[in-house]
Amino acid sequence: MSKIILTGDRPTGKLHVGHYVGSLRGRVELQNSGKFDHIYIMIADAQALTDNADNPEKVRQNIIEVALDYLSVGLDPLKSSMFIQSQISELCELAFYYMNLVTVSRLQRNPTVKSEIQMRNFETSIPVGFFTYPISQAADITAFKATTVPVGEDQAPMIEQTKEIVRKFNGTYAEVLVEPEILLPDNKACLRLPGTDGKAKMSKSLNNCIYLSDSEEDVKKKIMSMYTDPNHLRVEDPGQVEGNSVFIYLDAFSKTEHFGAYLPDYASLQELKEHYMRGGLGDVKVKKFLNAVLQEELAPIRERRKHFEKDIPEVYQILKKGTEEAREKAAATLSEVKEAMKINYFEDLTMIQEQAKRYSE
Ligand code: TRP
Repeated sequence: MSKIILTGDRPTGKLHVGHYVGSLRGRVELQNSGKFDHIYIMIADAQALTDNADNPEKVRQNIIEVALDYLSVGLDPLKSSMFIQSQISELCELAFYYMNLVTVSRLQRNPTVKSEIQMRNFETSIPVGFFTYPISQAADITAFKATTVPVGEDQAPMIEQTKEIVRKFNGTYAEVLVEPEILLPDNKACLRLPGTDGKAKMSKSLNNCIYLSDSEEDVKKKIMSMYTDPNHLRVEDPGQVEGNSVFIYLDAFSKTEHFGAYLPDYASLQELKEHYMRGGLGDVKVKKFLNAVLQEELAPIRERRKHFEKDIPEVYQILKKGTEEAREKAAATLSEVKEAMKINYFEDLTMIQEQAKRYSE
């Protein structure tokens, strides 16, 4: 069986370093591993509209932001098809048929939907489109017969829901769809990078994100004012590394080589942590090290971004071409789905003949 990746992001804002360690960095590695037959990366604008119906301009503006972020981190249009969800109507068709295979109570139990309803104060008036987006997401994944879906931990219930739909469909009609597997980063710190203020979630409205598109100076400023251990007041005080954003970021980003290059007094992150916990190590020194590490990672991303920003029409061309590639695959799956569901009337010549015979007898 071929190995296919499908993943994507809602274009509701620029992508930040949490997206990067949680998913983007891994996608680029998977892309360059050569182990996959096809990679589809989707800008989920239709899904973004399920909770931004009144703000289409925001979604439109962020398509190009997300596309630039993709290209800057090293997703390569020659190796990965990058496309825009709303431009593939086959995905809506699939979702419409899958709706018959899912119950309202099952959707109500979806933990991601539940917490998002709370977050958006939708309790009293949930838009139907938003409520059913897990079904649409199952369409996104199955349209490409994806075997592997690299996403953040928060998306696990979506993959679960997709698997259920696949089993239900294949059991009811025919073995057409493929059950996907979620792929999470193995580094725990990468699962959910906290905000620079120490809050569990990075969010634009909390103003606690480091964006991939931030300038060198902005990144430095954000790091130098980052949340650490509030009880670590003097250098000599023992400090805590758990829940300390600076150390969590180091868990996610630092490699042994970085110590040789920027902090040769320590051989490893473990040694640095031990010194911090013992006392005698100031926050500024650790922050400066984190800044060096992060700037090293972000510099090539910034460079590539500059290059693509010079030719925005070309970026749209890349998306258009990716969308054409993606549509071909989605259309092929949809046609198998319709055949399995016996709604392929005009293609089914045997059926037409049988009907004709029935009436001529
Ligand atoms: N729900 C995902 C998010 O909020 C975006 C998304 C839409 C997606 N369709 C997808 C992710 C299909 C993976 C596969 O980030």
